[in-house]
Amino acid sequence: MAYRVAIVGVGPGREIDISGRTHSYGYLHADAYAEREDCTLVGCADVVAEYATGFAAEFDVPDEHVYEGHESMLAGTDPDVVSVCTPIPTHAPLTIDCARHGSVAAVHCEKPMARTWAEARAMAQVCDHEDVQLTFDHQRRFGAPFRRAKELLDEGIVGDLERIEISWGNFFDNGTHALDLAAMFNDESRAEWVMGQLDYSTEHVRYGVPTADHALVSWQYENGVHGIAATGDDVPLTGGPYDFYDCWHRLVCTEGVIEIGRLDGPLLRYRRDGEGWSELDIADETGGRVDLAIDDIVGALDSDHESELEAGNALATTEVLFAGHESSRRRGRISLPLTGVYDHPLETMIETGAISPERTDDRPAHPAERDGEAEG
Ligand SMILES: NC(=O)c1ccc[n+]([C@@H]2O[C@H](COP(=O)([O-])OP(=O)(O)OC[C@H]3O[C@@H](n4cnc5c(N)ncnc54)[C@H](O)[C@@H]3O)[C@@H](O)[C@H]2O)c1
Repeated sequence: MAYRVAIVGVGPGREIDISGRTHSYGYLHADAYAEREDCTLVGCADVVAEYATGFAAEFDVPDEHVYEGHESMLAGTDPDVVSVCTPIPTHAPLTIDCARHGSVAAVHCEKPMARTWAEARAMAQVCDHEDVQLTFDHQRRFGAPFRRAKELLDEGIVGDLERIEISWGNFFDNGTHALDLAAMFNDESRAEWVMGQLDYSTEHVRYGVPTADHALVSWQYENGVHGIAATGDDVPLTGGPYDFYDCWHRLVCTEGVIEIGRLDGPLLRYRRDGEGWSELDIADETGGRVDLAIDDIVGALDSDHESELEAGNALATTEVLFAGHESSRRRGRISLPLTGVYDHPLETMIETGAISPERTDDRPAHPAERDGEAEG
């Protein structure tokens, strides 16, 4: 098969330095499609015209197929595959428009899924109805340290998984990766309940959505495994691990422990009960592999293989994210499925004055952001 690919929200480019971002994700998607013989970039769109023309020049997109709006891009190019690489509030409306266009067989959307729980479910429902493959770019799954950790679990080297501990950045934007990885480690078991508390005493909007820095959230999966995430600290938006658990993920098992992304330590190590630590020599792909994610989603088209980035897995992760926020709003444990919630609870709490964050227009970026370590 040959696929006509279009990208909406290409961004300013590479080597940028805005709030810690070192590259626009549209470029990373395009790099991956360009590597594949079965994909041709036929169009691009960005509301900032110069971003679209700069991208088109780099990826040889014909001048007549460079657009400012996604609707004219869809009408002018009739793509088979669309990557949505825009800020979070636009993910749902753009994805739904793409799915309803007619020519589109697959939408690959950036994470987190959507601004609200209702929008996340609507995206999945519309794509299902239109028979469009919908996937989300939880591409950290393909990073070597996470993949190898999953292999260690599957090999039973430290017994069976009992608890997943997470210390990673913030609870929404980074949290979607951290929880998606937890689900991968736990064989995609669904969560049964979630309980959490969030701190939003300081304003922090990330990719268009208020994002709690400091959170403590626990949950239990249907298979009995527990999860607990402690994110952020008194310095907001640390993109890497912080010292609550000293690592991004600690996988506590019946016969030992696996740790991934230790603060100032190895990227992957494990310890069997009664023995010392074994460190694994592994490529630093904690930032993920967008190229392998694109291979997975394109490979799933016209095949029996379902992408592991599919909407069902993303919804399961997103449900824990929104349930964690809802638990903070209701001050209680939330049983899943998450019903009666349509909004982003944190956004509503801010709008209704239930919480009043300190505004931070002139707050300097944390050093980790300036160093580009705060990638989503
Ligand atoms: N998967 C990951 O690991 C990862 C890492 C970082 C960011 N992201 C996600 O990628 C997305 C984009 O992040 P980025 O860093 O590339 O941002 P960016 O600002 O570099 O690019 C986004 C672009 O979208 C454009 N845009 C906004 N609304 C639009 C619309 N309606 N139509 C067309 N263009 C529009 C903006 O003008 C901008 O140029 C976000 O959702 C973010 O969470 C994912």
